[in-house]
Amino acid sequence: MSICFLNGTFQPLADARISPLDRGFLFGDGGYEVIPVYSRRPFRLAQHLERLAHTLDAIRLPNPHAPSEWSGIINEIIARNPWADQSVYLQVSRGCGDGRNHAFPVPIRPTVFLMSDELVTPPAEQLARGVAAVSAADFRWLRCDLKSTALLANCLLRQGAIDSGCVETVLFRDGFLTEGAASNIVIVRDGTMLAPPKSHLMLPGITYDVVLELAAQHGLPYQVREILEDEVRTADEVWMTSSTKEVLAITTLDGLAVGNGTPGPVARRMYDWYQDFKNTVMRSG
Ligand code: PDD
Repeated sequence: MSICFLNGTFQPLADARISPLDRGFLFGDGGYEVIPVYSRRPFRLAQHLERLAHTLDAIRLPNPHAPSEWSGIINEIIARNPWADQSVYLQVSRGCGDGRNHAFPVPIRPTVFLMSDELVTPPAEQLARGVAAVSAADFRWLRCDLKSTALLANCLLRQGAIDSGCVETVLFRDGFLTEGAASNIVIVRDGTMLAPPKSHLMLPGITYDVVLELAAQHGLPYQVREILEDEVRTADEVWMTSSTKEVLAITTLDGLAVGNGTPGPVARRMYDWYQDFKNTVMRSG
């Protein structure tokens, strides 16, 4: 039985209850994080908490906990659940008003909810062959840098991939790559890794940051710059990165092979660097 945290209380997930007036439910009014946990240690926790603070600040929702308090709650959720590797979900909504009203309630009493599940990273078969993706026009709002719980557009876009038997949807806005429906996208051309610059059009991924750091550390040539749709379609390699997918090669896009249709050499190297980095961090207390 999975244990969750709701407004100060640890309890079985099946018993947790919130009001239908919660603005998270009525308006998708909240922010969230997904934090991977390896060997019971949260990965890049400080960076996840910083991004949460950025989201809450931008949506004018007072952060209900200091980083040390968040860290305590997260470590307790990890300890109370059975798996060594977990995916911790953390959400803060703007709580309830008296009824349904777009204007913020006064005072704001946020709803704080955390749950955890076993971390399921891509299976060996997907790592060996890569995965299929489709593309779509990015029709989301202009604050994609915020990790908002209002994810209807992302759900519709990801479902477009599922309906076509694919894993992810690669998004283009005005002829440029933004990201995936629930991941960041980087590409490789002529041995150089290209990553789109952080802006209001994409989520600043924690995994994306790690991938750039690893490229710098290992001397892999890379550029952070705007990437044309055509450069993606003719890339040697396309990868998705996220806390749960880690580094996963996309080997077909809209039914056409990316490169030679198998995970490329740079993707394989980056995957290995990522695993080594994870293991080093996790071993060093
Ligand atoms: N999604 N872009 C979008 C739109 C995302 O939803 C995610 C992650 C990322 C990658 O961010 P990170 O590397 O910090 O996980 C990029 C999470 C896993 C989710 O919503 O489940």
